[in-house]
Amino acid sequence: MNKRLMIALAAVFCLAAALLIYFGGRPSAGGPAVGTVQEESIPSFLGVGPHEITIRNVTKKPVHYRLRAYGSEAPAVERMLLPDEIDRYPAPQTVVISYLKYGSEVTYSLFPGKPYSFRYDSAGNTDIWVGAHGREDAVDLAPYVPTPPEVLAEMCLLGEVTKDSIVYDIGCGDGRIVIHAAKTFGARGVGIDIEPERIRESKANAKAAGVERLVRFKLADATKVDISEATVVTMYLLPESNELLRPKLEKELRPGVLVVTHNYMIPGWENKEVTSKIVLDSEEKEHTIFVYRR
Ligand SMILES: C[S@@+](CC[C@H](N)C(=O)[O-])C[C@H]1O[C@@H](n2cnc3c(N)ncnc32)[C@H](O)[C@@H]1O
Repeated sequence: MNKRLMIALAAVFCLAAALLIYFGGRPSAGGPAVGTVQEESIPSFLGVGPHEITIRNVTKKPVHYRLRAYGSEAPAVERMLLPDEIDRYPAPQTVVISYLKYGSEVTYSLFPGKPYSFRYDSAGNTDIWVGAHGREDAVDLAPYVPTPPEVLAEMCLLGEVTKDSIVYDIGCGDGRIVIHAAKTFGARGVGIDIEPERIRESKANAKAAGVERLVRFKLADATKVDISEATVVTMYLLPESNELLRPKLEKELRPGVLVVTHNYMIPGWENKEVTSKIVLDSEEKEHTIFVYRR
């Protein structure tokens, strides 16, 4: 498989790939849904433009790399990114990136209009991955990779979701977890995602499932949303994002609230882990669910 294809595939499989081991009241069917959540609009210009790429450094060290336009004879441009910085690079066409991995230079193609991130792989080496967005005013918690139905069904069971629950999914993707909780248990739910397309999908999916009165979707940076009314929190995010969110969970959630994560643990919450379970998806692929009690 050529390297360009590999980086494209990483967009789809980034979270699920084994390469990133480090790597989700009062209900009433007819009553109001969660009323405290307001819709919010985020200017789309903050994201990655169609003729540029963004590269974010999510590691804890400066990263050095070189960029050049694909097919160009011009010398590559040397770049350096400090932790948390974002590089915006004009990309009217494919851009070729080179950097050191495992002590040798690797080269990949980056495609116009895509956000990328330098992150650690499971062995602790810096590598490049597709990200969720190129916004400079928000952390990139994880790229979009949906939780398979078998896994989210078990997440809801392990999270003890009932009709009395208020389920918050942090980085909700297409809304499937809160929609399942609403449809199966009559739970209320709030999905938060920073990508406008995900929120559009979530709303359409909730409508199609007939649960739009029970769920709300918020277009926002989840790190800035008050989650204190949640009785269950689900997260399918990268491990460093779980770690980043831990103080927020501790500050805002009431004691006893269950936090259910897909595939990645919450570093520092080892003593709060209630249980974990491995679930197979329809392709027999293993997913681990971790349950914590705040
Ligand atoms: C791995 S997906 C999980 C989707 C869904 N929870 C599921 O399990 O099917 C992670 C989601 O987090 C979103 N995300 C990334 N950074 C975010 C942020 N700062 N605030 C809110 N959502 C974010 C991405 O857009 C993506 O949809």
